[in-house]
Amino acid sequence: MSSPESTRDKILHLVAEHYREAHKSRPFVPGNTRIHYAGRVFDEQELIAAVNACLDFWLTDGPNTAAFEQGLADYVGVRSAVAVNSGSSANLIAMATLCSNQLEHPLEPGDEVITPAVGFPTTVAPIVQNRLIPVFVDCRLGTYNLNPAHLEPALSSRTRGIFLAHTMGIPAEMTAIVEFAHAHRLFIVEDACDALGSTIGGRMVGTFGELSTLSFYPAHHMTTGEGGAVLTDDPMLARISRSLRDWGRDCQCTYDSPPDGACGRRFEWHIPGFDEPYDHRYLFTEIGYNLKMTDIQTAIGLAQLAKLPEFIAKRKENFSRLQAGLKQYEEFLILPTWPTEADPSWFALPITVRPSAPFARADMIAWLEGRNVETRLLFAGNIIRQPGFRDIEHRAVGNLANADLIMRAAFFIGVFPGLDDDRIAYVLEAFADFFRSLD
Ligand SMILES: Cc1ncc(COP(=O)(O)O)c(C=O)c1O
Repeated sequence: MSSPESTRDKILHLVAEHYREAHKSRPFVPGNTRIHYAGRVFDEQELIAAVNACLDFWLTDGPNTAAFEQGLADYVGVRSAVAVNSGSSANLIAMATLCSNQLEHPLEPGDEVITPAVGFPTTVAPIVQNRLIPVFVDCRLGTYNLNPAHLEPALSSRTRGIFLAHTMGIPAEMTAIVEFAHAHRLFIVEDACDALGSTIGGRMVGTFGELSTLSFYPAHHMTTGEGGAVLTDDPMLARISRSLRDWGRDCQCTYDSPPDGACGRRFEWHIPGFDEPYDHRYLFTEIGYNLKMTDIQTAIGLAQLAKLPEFIAKRKENFSRLQAGLKQYEEFLILPTWPTEADPSWFALPITVRPSAPFARADMIAWLEGRNVETRLLFAGNIIRQPGFRDIEHRAVGNLANADLIMRAAFFIGVFPGLDDDRIAYVLEAFADFFRSLD
């Protein structure tokens, strides 16, 4: 006799079979198989998790979301994780949280936030979107991270914070940055979207700032398709972030809260200046958004989270092999470097073609792409050269010469766990062929 349980078992059994038939890796054909810089790495467990969540049909944020948030917080080592629908949304919420009137000393329009000139556009966009002023500082070649020596010259009476990214998984120089922030009472937000699992001084990135963010877009260390998270140790900041994510409502009840609310007096709340009691679910203390993740995405996220340590280990292994193989070309290429006390969880392997090299970045990229080795530029390059950002109100420290060089000469190749030994060897051979072609 069939029952919902046995039907579900049959479906999930077939899902696993479908994975083996449709998704199992295909053989690598040198030259024909594209060597992606990143991609989803999954097996039948993610498909089963997704289908299971579809059969539950909770759809919006629910039991899987709660477990996913807890799992993320535990992994990074923070008190709270707020799951959102992208890393960009996480950055937006982080910045909006610091502008909340519920804080004693919120950021005000016109306040300044120091941020690197090189990076992903949605690290900078939320600064502008919240009517704050970005103050751009240059980064170092090799680490592609904010140079702490430029913090002091960036300071003004309006400076309130630092919004930095750990570029390509390389931890920023947090000892100097935290020291500076403490000395000047600045907040730190860490965009750790590219650096899940990176440590510096034995401490996870994402635990240094008042808030930090993650992305689960497929290029990142683990994926939920679209997705992200805001992390914090501060219960008040977590509460505001959650409220901003959920339409700006004050009530923090979850899917399993009782009808009368976790407080037991849901229908007896008061809005100052309004005489009738009001349902807490409709009390809005923030001008919010709806940036929630779905329960199907977080079900996939839980399956990915279980694999995160092995994903990170493989990224490190692939990085080491590529870095060792490319070392011989250092006369022409600036290879990645990282602080001595850092252990990067690599997003990718960034390379800058030295200005003295007898070839241009375009030549090298054309060669690699022509051999099916995928490349990407270091995101926006010098962001204030991008059309969307050219006219924003900002300040800049110095001439941002490294940012310009990166925009002109840097690119990156993949290290993701989908690259096996044969693919790594093929990539190194493509570089070797390029340099032989120069002779
Ligand atoms: C450093 C950094 N921050 C933020 C983002 C935005 O993440 P998402 O694509 O999830 O919006 C990215 C995207 O790759 C990124 O690399």
